Amino acid sequence: MPASLPIGQYAKAPADASRSPCPVVNALANHGYLERSGREIYVEDLNAAMGHVGMSPLLGSVFAVPTYFEYHNPALAYMRKPVGAWQRAWSLIGNPYSFFDYFGCWNEKQVTDHGRKYLNLVDLASHGAIEHDISLSRRDIGQEEGNNEPQSDLIKEMLTCSSDGKSLTVDDLAAFIKARIKRQLKDNPELVYGPAEHQVNCGQLALMMGCFGDGKTIPVSYVKAIFEEERLPVEEGWTKRAWWTMGLLEFFGAVSNLVTKVNVNFDLPAVA
Ligand code: HEM
Repeated sequence: MPASLPIGQYAKAPADASRSPCPVVNALANHGYLERSGREIYVEDLNAAMGHVGMSPLLGSVFAVPTYFEYHNPALAYMRKPVGAWQRAWSLIGNPYSFFDYFGCWNEKQVTDHGRKYLNLVDLASHGAIEHDISLSRRDIGQEEGNNEPQSDLIKEMLTCSSDGKSLTVDDLAAFIKARIKRQLKDNPELVYGPAEHQVNCGQLALMMGCFGDGKTIPVSYVKAIFEEERLPVEEGWTKRAWWTMGLLEFFGAVSNLVTKVNVNFDLPAVA
């Protein structure tokens, strides 16, 4: 790949590049908004990249900053107490970063000679931090295919769950998440998926619907570009939100809506 490729121009990831389980972060690297190699990414760069998909500076930093906290043992992360979406919103208003401390994907060896922390994109696949079982386009860490590589059969299934063939609605995506949960319950005996993982899962879709769609629908062609090519859907007509970026309250409202639509009951049967 020519070294001089302009920032913003899409190119497939170089063969030895580091990539993550997040199609949007990968797309930002494929457009040069993040280091194209996906290596030695600094927090300032990840934070700035969020602006390229129309996230508000606060919402972008709520995701980018805690990613550089230290990676926790997943066994402990799964013991955290689940809380509701609005409760999350209020605590975040008090201290936007504290709530996502379990998002840390960094390990202590990842410091440059000049003392700067960095991540390689593959670190985002650290299981139990942001990465969870039952993704839409990836299989689980306990499965042969692993939790980082896009799975073309799953992506096809997602694209075909559109009721009108043109766009995916919140209801279409809610039905797809339900179908994925049913499937993984069968396919992955080591499955770990509770309310906390579910909120993160719904949160990722809420981000996509808000940044690339109108919050209620998103064109199938955009989803195809994002997941199949890990490309921003500019050719398909997308332009980033400029005047009214996606902020915290919109985000939490959208997550709450999606969680309600998917309507999974996590209650354990009462023990006699
Ligand atoms: C600092 C910023 C971000 C980080 C660290 C991050 C990290 C991640 C990670 C680790 C996953 C994998 C979760 C899993 O399925 O196990 C993921 C998935 C996802 N992310 Fe991101 N992400 C970021 C920003 C964004 C943005 C801005 C969007 C959309 C506008 C987005 C959309 C998605 C979607 C749709 C998925 C689901 C993929 C799937 O289930 O197959 N992410 N993200």
